[in-house]
Amino acid sequence: MRNPKILVLDRNETLAEQLEGILSEFRPRPEVQSCSRIGAVGDILTDEGPFDLLVAGPSLATRSGLARLEVIHDELPNMVVLLAFARRPDAALRDIVRTGAVDLVQLPADDDVLRESLERALELSRKVAPEAPVPAVAAASTAAPSGLSRPGTVFTLSSATGGCGKTFLATNLAYLLTHHTGKRACIVDLDLQFGEVSTALRLRPRYTIYDVLQREDTDEADLRDHIEEYMVTHETGFSVLAAPKDPSEADRIDPPDVTRIIEACRARFDYVVVDTPAALTEVVLAAFDLSDVLYTMATLDLPSVRNMSVFLGTLERLKISSENVKLILNKAETDVGIDVDQVTRLFPQGFSAVLPYAKEVSRSINLGMPVAASSPQSEVSRLMVKGFADLLPDAVTARMASAPEASAEGGRFKRLFRRAPVNA
Ligand SMILES: Nc1ncnc2c1ncn2[C@@H]1O[C@H](COP(=O)(O)OP(=O)(O)OP(=O)(O)O)[C@@H](O)[C@H]1O
Ligand SMILES: [Mg+2]
Repeated sequence: MRNPKILVLDRNETLAEQLEGILSEFRPRPEVQSCSRIGAVGDILTDEGPFDLLVAGPSLATRSGLARLEVIHDELPNMVVLLAFARRPDAALRDIVRTGAVDLVQLPADDDVLRESLERALELSRKVAPEAPVPAVAAASTAAPSGLSRPGTVFTLSSATGGCGKTFLATNLAYLLTHHTGKRACIVDLDLQFGEVSTALRLRPRYTIYDVLQREDTDEADLRDHIEEYMVTHETGFSVLAAPKDPSEADRIDPPDVTRIIEACRARFDYVVVDTPAALTEVVLAAFDLSDVLYTMATLDLPSVRNMSVFLGTLERLKISSENVKLILNKAETDVGIDVDQVTRLFPQGFSAVLPYAKEVSRSINLGMPVAASSPQSEVSRLMVKGFADLLPDAVTARMASAPEASAEGGRFKRLFRRAPVNA
């Protein structure tokens, strides 16, 4: 008899540690794997599976968490699911039932309670799939029918204060990825009430994210097969799923919808760039859960910088791994009473990029183009490429570094930059 395999899914490692202690007495001793990056669960199920049992911890006790478990259960019905939540999720009973869970343990729980629940769940898993591994694990929640061997990478742009440049950076990141890697990228505009991605790119979308969700009887496969029909393509090659036309439609989109939409996009695109409003709503948190990298932006002024600090504190309390969070300072100018050096001292993790305020940006907006496409040699474009160097081919970053500079403003900014070295 092979040793059972258990996956513990929670942002916090505490549950996995308690379970490991209990399971060490089981014979045969189960193999326990912990996944604290909820967005990475699809990869782990594919690469490390099959698992006999999935224990979902308190971080999954949200509507988006339950929606994710439902998707997993639909794809891997033979894997037994056990919920270990601290409170009853604020969701319909139906949403809990659809996760396929065989038990719900209330945390904190004694070892005895957990032991009994684990024994029962493992017993059931033996009955469901006697000795046989779960088939088709490659078809995990985010299997890619489009020919992608693995789900696309998700980048989310966020900020505590408005106007920091999230939309600006989202369009430029999607452009840089498409242009320099030759792979497919899309932007999902999750600024559901006042999204401006299509306006900034002068696109006229026929459909929006709201229309995708109006499809009748959509299951995950249907969504994956049709999501691109709701997108509009920018002339530089990336696609955009626009925000609703009417802000009132935004209220009808909930976190599980967002989870499903992003999952469908990652099945179709190598890169999914998510633009968000300057707020920590449940919808935005659903996107964070799926994000491989979360860029958090601030501008060079005290309220913005202070709020970035509050924002990062909140992410920490929500147990969003700081490993995936990267900081970007935008619209940095000289002589504004605060300099980059002062700001970097406040954030020991450093900034991935410090971008200058540049007039080329307004010009690019008027052209409906990302500035990296309309003025690739400007200082702001070059610093963007440098900031995203780990995502782009080495040759591109090397070329940027050796090409002559285009803007006089650039020189001024560079001096500021030199004075205040910024961590990569
Ligand atoms: N580096 C820059 N230099 C000059 N202008 C910039 C720069 N970055 C952004 N802008 C401009 O600042 C304005 C706000 O940027 P943007 O809309 O991208 O911010 P946002 O964070 O998406 O705002 P919101 O929170 O309202 O969605 C836009 O007009 C944009 O063109
Ligand atoms: Mg915006």
